[in-house]
Amino acid sequence: MDSSNKHPMDSRLRGNDTDEKVRSTRKECASTRAAFRGDLVIAAVAAFLVLFLFPAALMTARAADGSLSEEDRKCLNCHSSEGLKKNLANGETLSLHVPGEAFAKSVHGPLGCAGCHANVNLKNHLPAKTKIVTAREYSITGAELCRRCHEDKFKQYEGSIHATLLREGNQAAPVCTDCHSPHSIRPKAARESIAEVPCRKCHETIFKAYAESVHGRARSQPGRNNAPICADCHRAHDVRPASTGEQPKNACLGCHAGALSAHERWLPNTERHLETVSCPACHAPGAQRRVDLRLYDSVAQKRVSEKQGVPQFETRARSVDAQGHGLDAMALRSLLREFNREGTEGRTILRGRLEVRSGVEAHQLADKTRAVGNCDSCHREGADPFQSVTVSIVGPDGRPLRYGAHKEVLTSAISVDSVGGFYAIGGTRIKLLDVLLVLAVLGGAAVPVGHLTLKWLFRRYLKRGGAENASGNRRPQNPPSPGGRPGGGDRG
Ligand code: HEC
Ligand code: HEC
Ligand code: HEC
Ligand code: HEC
Ligand code: HEC
Ligand code: HEC
Ligand code: HEC
Ligand code: HEC
Ligand code: HEC
Repeated sequence: MDSSNKHPMDSRLRGNDTDEKVRSTRKECASTRAAFRGDLVIAAVAAFLVLFLFPAALMTARAADGSLSEEDRKCLNCHSSEGLKKNLANGETLSLHVPGEAFAKSVHGPLGCAGCHANVNLKNHLPAKTKIVTAREYSITGAELCRRCHEDKFKQYEGSIHATLLREGNQAAPVCTDCHSPHSIRPKAARESIAEVPCRKCHETIFKAYAESVHGRARSQPGRNNAPICADCHRAHDVRPASTGEQPKNACLGCHAGALSAHERWLPNTERHLETVSCPACHAPGAQRRVDLRLYDSVAQKRVSEKQGVPQFETRARSVDAQGHGLDAMALRSLLREFNREGTEGRTILRGRLEVRSGVEAHQLADKTRAVGNCDSCHREGADPFQSVTVSIVGPDGRPLRYGAHKEVLTSAISVDSVGGFYAIGGTRIKLLDVLLVLAVLGGAAVPVGHLTLKWLFRRYLKRGGAENASGNRRPQNPPSPGGRPGGGDRG
């Protein structure tokens, strides 16, 4: 090859008339698939395609020892310069610097620049015709390049909360190249320090909490790769909303397979506790906690989701909470009724969950000696976790939408039926019932019996409470609820 030639591609492309095609292809810089498009029939073009679209062939043709090919060095003559920049129309500058040595050592070194930038042709590279509107958009389209060789990861990524957010126009959500700097990707095994975890870039406060946690401290020690880092609990590509599914909890139990039996030694009704109390609620000892009452579809057996484009939760909550002070017991009951309108009485119920109040706190996990195990910290009147209450639904992007509620909704007789599925002895309700349940538990009677007794008692209690509280029946067409309560009297 003519090494004195400033444009090494020239010799390859000389004599073919595809400049126009190459140029128009380059417009689609991001999409190498575009190279497949069109009527590229000329033999020279076929050769071009073989060279640039079948990197496996390239890889064997190249030394895999971390040295750069001649062609790559040509590109780096210009692009290894730190100062090389492009001014974009919106005033941003895009750095065109590519770290040559890091690239040579990276997993993609053997592909050469052409492995991804097949459409860059030195002969007419400058002035570049690629229209770059903003640096962010360039990255987002650029990441499409990865699809060709990593389709599997793409598929996983496309189901993630990150991809969902991006589709909805949130450009702060990551694409491949935010987590994998495209020119210096090292093999997974070579990444050691937790400080390098890509998630940190955007979730810094969570990273800090994690780094101080029992897991982060363990993971920081050399060779301790068995303690989890972000992707071990959330996965790397298939990241789901953290609190609406079971992803993190399943991860915990995946590693701590003995956890259930370890808790059974001291915690009665272990399964029930682990279902209604999140792991961090006991294992992040400094965290503030709350009760989240989740709208739950008792027929479909899943949480109620907001329908795309029909924001009913917020609207309904606001309409029953005219003052905007948060839902009180009456408002909560009305809200539930709104969701149970079309003759589906009792279909939508509330399911309580005791959890930490913030995402940061969810990561402040401490060792087991500091975990909350004292029954009193929950089963006592005025216990701290019951001082803050939210009501939630699954939002259109899969993350929860929350609305504040008064803490009294947990203790008020009016809402006994609404929050009937959630009952923490002492913490939430009526003393007599506590005693009965404790007796049921101590007496070895099956807890379901206790619960049935409670339900029955609630209903009786409720009949009285309801009758005292209600001032009118606004919806006579509704079938009477099991409690027989009239409703809606709180609304103007
Ligand atoms: C003579 C110096 C020089 C050489 C050699 C060179 N580039 Fe460039 N490159 C530039 C400059 C300057 C720009 C910015 C052009 C502009 O401002 O529009 C650029 C832009 C780019 C861009 C971003 C814009 C676009 O068109 O997508 C990529 C990607 C790129 N070069 C890749 C390469 C590759 C791959 C090679 C080797 C095949 C290479 N360059 C060789 C100078 C060079
Ligand atoms: C594994 C695929 C891949 C390889 C191999 C690759 N690039 Fe890139 N390159 C990309 C992607 C993706 C982008 C868009 C990155 C972004 O800005 O988010 C990019 C962007 C660029 C840019 C624009 C500036 C920037 O960083 O965004 C230049 C210049 C560039 N590459 C040059 C090169 C050169 C020179 C080589 C070889 C030494 C090379 N690339 C090898 C994938 C690759
Ligand atoms: C032309 C094919 C090709 C393209 C395009 C490509 N890759 Fe790769 N990638 C490979 C090959 C080959 C390997 C090495 C696989 C191996 O060692 O098992 C690799 C390895 C990787 C690894 C490291 C796997 C490990 O061992 O930990 C990551 C991460 C990765 N690629 C991400 C990307 C990203 C991000 C992009 C887009 C900017 C991209 N790749 C584009 C072919 C490609
Ligand atoms: C939110 C950050 C993030 C995004 C976005 C992301 N990755 Fe990854 N990726 C990671 C992490 C972290 C790992 C290594 C940890 C793991 O898999 O457990 C990884 C690993 C990989 C690997 C090596 C996998 C293996 O098991 O050896 C490949 C290949 C890869 N990513 C490609 C991609 C591609 C292609 C995209 C775009 C569709 C992408 N990644 C998007 C964070 C991300
Ligand atoms: C030991 C498992 C584990 C590890 C490691 C972990 N997380 Fe989490 N993460 C969780 C749990 C549990 C939740 C809360 C889920 C819930 O509300 O039930 C959570 C919640 C989140 C949330 C949602 C926060 C919110 O506002 O609701 C984000 C974002 C997040 N984690 C990111 C990260 C990042 C980034 C890292 C690494 C620095 C990380 N996580 C490490 C388990 C983990
Ligand atoms: C380029 C920025 C960026 C990177 C890198 C990134 N994320 Fe995110 N992530 C976001 C944004 C933006 C959201 C939307 C929520 C927000 O605004 O905090 C989000 C949301 C999440 C959520 C859902 C939060 C919830 O409320 O349930 C989880 C879980 C998450 N990220 C985990 C991760 C993990 C794990 C990594 C690394 C493998 C990572 N993220 C890397 C930007 C990023
Ligand atoms: C990838 C495996 C893995 C996952 C996932 C994981 N852990 Fe761990 N966890 C460990 C390891 C390893 C240790 C031991 C750390 C040490 O040596 O200090 C540990 C320690 C702990 C401890 C301290 C135990 C003690 O003896 O003091 C608690 C509590 C804990 N994890 C809870 C959780 C919770 C809660 C989750 C989910 C949110 C979780 N873990 C997810 C591996 C994991
Ligand atoms: C009601 C509070 C509570 C809940 C909920 C809870 N834990 Fe624990 N956990 C504790 C206490 C207290 C200990 C310490 C017991 C001891 O010292 O033996 C403990 C101990 C542990 C240990 C150490 C076990 C051992 O073998 O010594 C692990 C691991 C653990 N928990 C994980 C979890 C996981 C995972 C979850 C969620 C699925 C969870 N815990 C939910 C209170 C709780
Ligand atoms: C972190 C708070 C917390 C701690 C600590 C805790 N519990 Fe609970 N417990 C709850 C909640 C919340 C419920 C309600 C579960 C439901 O109704 O779904 C509950 C329910 C119960 C029930 C009723 C079970 C049922 O099926 O309704 C009994 C009995 C009980 N706890 C006993 C204990 C004992 C004994 C301890 C101490 C060894 C303890 N709990 C520690 C929060 C806690």
